[in-house]
Amino acid sequence: MHSPIPRKWWHDKIAYQIYPKSFLDTNGDGIGDLQGIIRKLDYLKDLGIDILWICPIYRSPFVDQGYDISDYYDIDPTFGTMEEFDLLLAEAKKRDMYILMDLVINHCSDRHPWFQKAAADPEGEYGNYFYFRRGKNGGPPSNARSYFGGSAWEKVPGQEDLYYFHAYAKAQPDLNWENPKVLQELYTMVNWWLEKGLAGFRIDAIINIQKDTAFPDYPADAPDGTASVVKMIESVDGVGQKLQQLKKHTFDKYDAFTVGEVFNMRQEELAEFVGPEGHFSTIFDFSPNCLSDGPGGWYRNREIPFSELRSTIFRTQQECQGIGFLANILENHDEPRGNSRYLPPYARNEMGMKMLATVNLLLRGIPFLFQGQEIGMTNCPMESVEEYDDINTKAEYALALEAGYSRQEALEICCRFSRDNGRTPMQWDDSDNAGFTAGTPWLKVNPNFLQINAKEQQQRDDSLLQYYKKLIRLRKSPEFREILAWGNFEPLWEDKDMLLAYRRVLDGRDVLVMANFGREAVTVRDSLLENRRVLLSNEETVLHGSCVTLAPSQALVVG
Ligand code: GLC
Ligand code: CA
Repeated sequence: MHSPIPRKWWHDKIAYQIYPKSFLDTNGDGIGDLQGIIRKLDYLKDLGIDILWICPIYRSPFVDQGYDISDYYDIDPTFGTMEEFDLLLAEAKKRDMYILMDLVINHCSDRHPWFQKAAADPEGEYGNYFYFRRGKNGGPPSNARSYFGGSAWEKVPGQEDLYYFHAYAKAQPDLNWENPKVLQELYTMVNWWLEKGLAGFRIDAIINIQKDTAFPDYPADAPDGTASVVKMIESVDGVGQKLQQLKKHTFDKYDAFTVGEVFNMRQEELAEFVGPEGHFSTIFDFSPNCLSDGPGGWYRNREIPFSELRSTIFRTQQECQGIGFLANILENHDEPRGNSRYLPPYARNEMGMKMLATVNLLLRGIPFLFQGQEIGMTNCPMESVEEYDDINTKAEYALALEAGYSRQEALEICCRFSRDNGRTPMQWDDSDNAGFTAGTPWLKVNPNFLQINAKEQQQRDDSLLQYYKKLIRLRKSPEFREILAWGNFEPLWEDKDMLLAYRRVLDGRDVLVMANFGREAVTVRDSLLENRRVLLSNEETVLHGSCVTLAPSQALVVG
């Protein structure tokens, strides 16, 4: 059966997220840069990557690592110049690769001229670029709590009883999406970048643009009487109209590829977000990530039982397939490394990582790899909280202490869940600082770089890196490309406790994917297995008629 969804250029592509500060430093200042990305384009091409999403490189004071933008039209000098960016675009194009930038338009930096002018003259034109509100009963206008902890309101500098709203850090004032002038400024900026040759954007924190502009109080969900911003976001309608306008004035004109960072969407809205006329080309599927959420912040994260992981993946795959495409991820710059999260402790090794990669990359949707995932980079053990840089980690550490955890326990929680786990420098080789920099790295290099690095894996045939290449090659092979990009998803053998198996089907042809997450071998008997050939596995496999036995951590793909 043909999928009714019109085919788009991005449906059969593989994307890769670059965290530029930690990718490759070429001038010895300890911070990755644009030249570093250019230098590694061939590495990425060889891996099979088509689309690169580069985390924010705009001019920024880096309070939240570039997600606080002070000039949308400039490259931050730490990364290089606009000429170097243009060179990157040209070099990518030569290799048939596409570049996405991060689009951070829910908020800007408090150093942005708009905010500076607004603070200097709240009654003037720019005051209305933000959400300025009077305080209430000697306190902030509402009890909203920011995502990074503490009130979502901060006093406008130099003002007595006037506050501005910030869903994230106080250095990230939210832009007023009710003001047509703001929208015009944003559309113009987005088009300017698309005109330059960007293929599209990853769109940051976008669900937050719709506010209840009366900013009511919500029932407290923290001991200090505050209520998470999420409460407001979930209580308002209308984000769709704003997103459709954005799309119409910008992305649509360029056939741009957009991937939204959308949490808190209502399930019944999926078609509005990713359907043929949806707000975005795709959105990340965060449903597996959300399984480790604890109540009230990640410091209370939990282990994910395999049965929940499997049922969640199966549910989202099935819900989406008549509607559109999701972007499948195992990790990103806001998350700990995927192998420590989704693999049971006994499978946290190269074989297990190959298994996880197989399951993830052959799902229906657009795979996004995060830098270092392809070589199995792991969470980084930090010795003290001072070694962390991330603003959010510091906030969660403080929350953990307040909740009564000891310093040691709070540090262990960060080692498991800090965003910096994904942000440590890329491990290129076994030379000093993992070949990332000739200077002092801005964030600690994971000491395991002597064992885990790209150079070693390039040279070893059975490495994780080589396995990723094979997987991507399979996804793109003339024989299976159509099935793996557009084929439907069907769960298989859910009665087997530790098996994650599915098939992708298109026009009567299929590919079967199976993975044994358990500690014991699993045997499957099914006529579906007859007359098959092995397309890929992380283990020697023999197929006997309708029967196959998978070793622990074995993944097997048959066609
Ligand atoms: C998104 C980004 C995250 C950032 C936040 C605020 O969630 O991925 O890194 O802190 O938005 O912009
Ligand atoms: Ca540098």
